[in-house]
Amino acid sequence: MFSRTSSFQARNLARCFSTSLPSNYKVSILGAAGGIGQPLSLLMKLNSDVTDLALYDIRGAPGVAADVSHIPTNSTVKGYGPENDGISTALKGSDVVIIPAGVPRKPGMTRDDLFNTNASIIASLAGAVADNSPNAAILVISNPVNSTVPIVSEVLKAKGVYNPKKLFGVTTLDVIRASRFISEVQGTNPTEETVTVIGGHSGITIVPLISQTPHKSIPKEQRDALINRIQFGGDEVVKAKDGAGSATLSMASAGARMASSVLSALSGKTSVTEPTFIDNPLYKSEGVEFFASPVTLGPEGVTEVHEYGPVEDYEAEMISIAKDTLKKNIQKGIEFVASQK
Ligand code: NAI
Repeated sequence: MFSRTSSFQARNLARCFSTSLPSNYKVSILGAAGGIGQPLSLLMKLNSDVTDLALYDIRGAPGVAADVSHIPTNSTVKGYGPENDGISTALKGSDVVIIPAGVPRKPGMTRDDLFNTNASIIASLAGAVADNSPNAAILVISNPVNSTVPIVSEVLKAKGVYNPKKLFGVTTLDVIRASRFISEVQGTNPTEETVTVIGGHSGITIVPLISQTPHKSIPKEQRDALINRIQFGGDEVVKAKDGAGSATLSMASAGARMASSVLSALSGKTSVTEPTFIDNPLYKSEGVEFFASPVTLGPEGVTEVHEYGPVEDYEAEMISIAKDTLKKNIQKGIEFVASQK
């Protein structure tokens, strides 16, 4: 299905320029008026690859659209609500669909606690994507990502339009947190820190590979604290917001980075590698259908899925634990869709 290379090669893939394809893309955001949706809409308005920005939400999207539409970049912006089947118009012709719709965590909640509410929302939105923009690249932000991505996959399969190369669970927030947090510990420049983060997007399923960074000899106690902070960094924000939600601004930045990478690859301008939670061919023999790996993107979506490469024993143990949890999270998503039939 996809080809493989080592994570070493993946990390060293350069961004190479060509100007063969036009950058002329429609992006739609579902859940555009929310805490993530608004700043994400702003950031996508600033992206020069986007010429058509469609903002959909069950409430508030026309206001967000009117606001960002005054920014003098190349794209036109329209906002849609549920009336007059707004979601279909928003989605038609989309090249990239980004989904931050759903409820966020409150203090004391895990991402899995969101399942009951968000599973139905994401299944219904996936159905609309299948009907209106079946060829779009789909970026799923709504939690729990470990289960919502399998839900989207099952819905698309049932509609006969599933393309595993174009479905991405957005784990970029874990990646940017890892860069930031390791730089704080080591006193380095965060913009120069790259940490491969694999597995999934919740607690112990988030596996940052510190041994593959220049900081592999960081003392164990400090390293364990760093890994714990990367895995549970979202809790810091949930606690600080004190009931008002979870990460929105850093998440919008992460989502915009992932969307920009997908758009760059679509346009043929660059060859880009991002870790992302995908229908992953590398671990299916172990019963793990979805797993976040470093992935190289091209005009048709995923072109290569990279092995994570050599790891230390403690990381191998973390990966094994992550896989056990992921199997259950993935199964939960699959069973949810089956139960709706
Ligand atoms: P929010 O509550 O501020 O915004 C969610 C938006 O979705 C609201 O505007 C709401 O009206 C809209 N919405 C609800 N049902 C909808 C539907 N059927 N169709 C269209 N829009 C709908 O929540 P926030 O903070 O923006 O978070 C959104 C999701 O993103 C949550 O599930 C949260 O857990 C997740 N998240 C994911 C992260 C990641 O790293 N992947 C990080 C942070 C949050």
